[in-house]
Amino acid sequence: MKIISSIKELRDQLRGQRGIVFVPTMGNIHEGHLSLIRLAGQHGERVVVSIFVNQLQFGPGEDFVKYPRTLDRDIEKLQQENVYMLFAPTEQDMYPSPQEYQIYPPHDLCYTLEGKFRTRFFCGVSTVVMKLISCVQPRIMVFGKKDYQQLIIVRQMCEQFALPVEVCAAETIRDADGLALSSRNTYLTPSERSEAPTLFRILQHIRSTVLTTGHRDFTKIELSAFQTLIERGWQPDYIAIRKRANLRLPQLHKEHEPLIVLIAAQLGKTRLIDNLEI
Ligand code: PAF
Repeated sequence: MKIISSIKELRDQLRGQRGIVFVPTMGNIHEGHLSLIRLAGQHGERVVVSIFVNQLQFGPGEDFVKYPRTLDRDIEKLQQENVYMLFAPTEQDMYPSPQEYQIYPPHDLCYTLEGKFRTRFFCGVSTVVMKLISCVQPRIMVFGKKDYQQLIIVRQMCEQFALPVEVCAAETIRDADGLALSSRNTYLTPSERSEAPTLFRILQHIRSTVLTTGHRDFTKIELSAFQTLIERGWQPDYIAIRKRANLRLPQLHKEHEPLIVLIAAQLGKTRLIDNLEI
């Protein structure tokens, strides 16, 4: 695996190569990332992974400083996989001058759900992803469904800018008790870790309520789940049943449109997100 940090060297190395499959990450590589990388490997031989903790997508008071940076261990894990190149730029490599040109996704998608609580997040993600695409020039990019809103926003950005890249979605990887894998799980204390799978159980309960009872009063379902989380000591930000295609509110009479339930809640000092397709 080649390890590259500067954009210039990356361009020199990748010049003329077609069919690159790209997996952008912020490092602290776990089984979730490895599943994205293995899916990438099914789409082509030249898998490029990036590791860059992107300051632009963190708001003030968020965990940019304490975000786990484990480059040496990440490299060891990536070397076990079929990764052609790791692009691990420094802040200076990626943003040699302040990034004043940025991507602003459409308001209704950017400032709902996650974006309501993390107002810089999707501008920061879209901007860095656009820049990474420009550097790596992949044919395919793999994103996890765990960050579902991110997946939808990046996919729409690529479509609207007619970027010659296909966005491929990978399933969420969970621990045996249902907790979705995330770098932020490392912040959980042992007792919080045993409570954390509640999030997935609530998603499953909502899914089966909608599917088995045909219950369409989504606000009531969301409120009841919200209450359950509060009673168990969580601070929920949102629990929302939305249209899977664009995350807009579902139309109640359209029974067969694909839905998704998304959740974000804080447990102690750790904020977790998850979702489940209905
Ligand atoms: O999902 C992530 O890890 C990040 O948001 C991404 C896509 C690598 C952009 O920094």
